Amino acid sequence: MISVNNVRAGYGDGPDILQGINLNAAGGEIVTILGPNGCGKSTLLKCIAGFVRPRGGAVEMEGCDVSAVPVHDKIRHHLMGFVPQTDNVFSTLSVADNIMLGARYMPAAERNARYAELMAQYPSLASKQERKASALSGGERQILSLARALISKPRVLLLDEPSAGLSPMMMHEVFAAIAEIRDRTGMCIVTVEQNAFEALGVADRAYVLSLGKVAIEGRAADLLADPAMRHLYLGGKPPVVESRPPFAAVN
Ligand SMILES: Nc1ncnc2c1ncn2[C@@H]1O[C@H](COP(=O)(O)OP(=O)(O)O)[C@@H](O)[C@H]1O
Ligand SMILES: [Mg+2]
Repeated sequence: MISVNNVRAGYGDGPDILQGINLNAAGGEIVTILGPNGCGKSTLLKCIAGFVRPRGGAVEMEGCDVSAVPVHDKIRHHLMGFVPQTDNVFSTLSVADNIMLGARYMPAAERNARYAELMAQYPSLASKQERKASALSGGERQILSLARALISKPRVLLLDEPSAGLSPMMMHEVFAAIAEIRDRTGMCIVTVEQNAFEALGVADRAYVLSLGKVAIEGRAADLLADPAMRHLYLGGKPPVVESRPPFAAVN
């Protein structure tokens, strides 16, 4: 579904931030990109989306080279949904208007039908449709940004740190929502994550970036069990996870 082949990329006249990256992601799987702050995770996701043009190599989606295809064309053709790391909802707009921003290329009837489906899927948003996004909790804002990306039924979903700044319970809820999307739709989902342990808990496979290259890649379960991975990238030991009530009880 997504194939990143030997991609090099950077900004302006600056050095290559990505120095020959290879990555694959298939339909029905969550692939997560991990690594320390500033190592180029967001740059890689922006390259896949098309916000940053590769200096070398190519990004393919569904077997086609999309390195030069503009972002809005991929969104318009239901190929891709993208949720950026920051500023991913418009605080002064209502929940409904935020979601509809993701549907501006769709015919009205289809847009309204999809909106109704999303309201059925995400009751926490349905009960707040006319509220301003600024009135939502951090977790609800992330679900809102997901809903906006999902309204066009993209085949590929790119999410930059969907769990950033959330409490452990909210993080759990957002990850559960992402896993549910994978299981229900078979979408190809690529996430960037800081919270490596939690992200590996929900991902199928992961790539760990270091110094512009892929340092480690593998199945998420294998990486979680790998002592070297734990030592280098996961801080040595897993966080203590308290037993949680069912998701419905959160918030
Ligand atoms: N728009 C930009 N212009 C110039 N440099 C940038 C820009 N965005 C990111 N960088 C630089 O690229 C490097 C990687 O950043 P980023 O991909 O955001 O890392 P991460 O998401 O892993 O924290 C950093 O050194 C950062 O300062
Ligand atoms: Mg980032």
